[in-house]
Amino acid sequence: MKVAVLGAAGGIGQALALLLKTQLPAGSELSLYDIAPVTPGVAVDLSHIPTQVSIKGFSGEDATPALQGADIVLISAGVARKPGMDRSDLFNINAGIVRNLIEQVAKTCPNACIAIITNPVNTTVAIAAEVLKKAGVYNKNKLFGITTLDIIRANTFVAEQHGLNPATVNVPVIGGHSGVTILPLLSQVQGVSFTNEAVENLTKRIQNAGTEVVEAKAGGGSATLSMGQAAARFALSIIRAMQGETNVVECTYVEGDGQYARFFAQPVRLGKNGIEERLPIGDLSPFEKNALDSMLTVLKADIELGESFINA
Ligand SMILES: NC(=O)c1ccc[n+]([C@@H]2O[C@H](COP(=O)([O-])OP(=O)(O)OC[C@H]3O[C@@H](n4cnc5c(N)ncnc54)[C@H](O)[C@@H]3O)[C@@H](O)[C@H]2O)c1
Repeated sequence: MKVAVLGAAGGIGQALALLLKTQLPAGSELSLYDIAPVTPGVAVDLSHIPTQVSIKGFSGEDATPALQGADIVLISAGVARKPGMDRSDLFNINAGIVRNLIEQVAKTCPNACIAIITNPVNTTVAIAAEVLKKAGVYNKNKLFGITTLDIIRANTFVAEQHGLNPATVNVPVIGGHSGVTILPLLSQVQGVSFTNEAVENLTKRIQNAGTEVVEAKAGGGSATLSMGQAAARFALSIIRAMQGETNVVECTYVEGDGQYARFFAQPVRLGKNGIEERLPIGDLSPFEKNALDSMLTVLKADIELGESFINA
């Protein structure tokens, strides 16, 4: 199993690479790529950790050597938010970076599972899909936007409020990955009930949790360590499913049946070839139904922005 991390010298990339070096199955290969010249050094640094995971680092303009033979490509390359910015402010820079990297993925490892962290995820996943389609290699079962951070945040906040072990809480989060498009389904959390006021407050906190970190870091970046953990969890889930484990389910932003929008974060069952089955979002409370209806204009506009970036 070969995993490539693109953007590997960044805040997320380094945390993610550390977690993968220590948690990938024995015999895996980890390949780090970033335009930053420090990247081969990041790999040398990690190579001193005694695990049966081999690691190499590459820098420069060409990602090809890092991508050769990759089964999974994780992309966190790009710029992150500063206070006062929302995720859509990142579009101008990150759209071009994702297009360029996906073009290289399409040429070098077109059968890989591709998971995108780079924001705005609602849009960058649409960009990736259109680039892959143009190259004739798009497989909608193998392209993911990573929304796992929204899930782990929701699990943490619910556990904190209710005095639970966060490892036992599982909040499905659907929709997209920015502002109102992030919709935690608190009505589906087993064994916990919330007042209407608590649902409203908790939903807002989960939607704005990224901004909580951006403001606390005061200009020094956005979530990197929790995101590294979220991306590692998602990548390891893909790997477990590829290696034959059954019933691996994650919420992730994927192209579905288009019932709500072309791309939509929902639970999926992962398998040997990426998504095995898109699972239903289940019953929604009136609050959640209303939040779902009112997010769709924003989500669809985010998706169209990505599609037209490639097709205009
Ligand atoms: N999906 C999520 O939940 C989530 C959460 C937090 C952050 N993010 C996003 O992840 C991205 C990375 O965040 P970060 O904090 O690691 O930022 P960072 O600035 O620390 O790291 C980004 C890295 O990308 C590299 N890079 C830039 N252009 C590149 C290119 N063309 N090819 C290869 N590498 C390139 C930079 O050299 C840098 O090392 C941002 O877009 C951020 O908004 C997503």
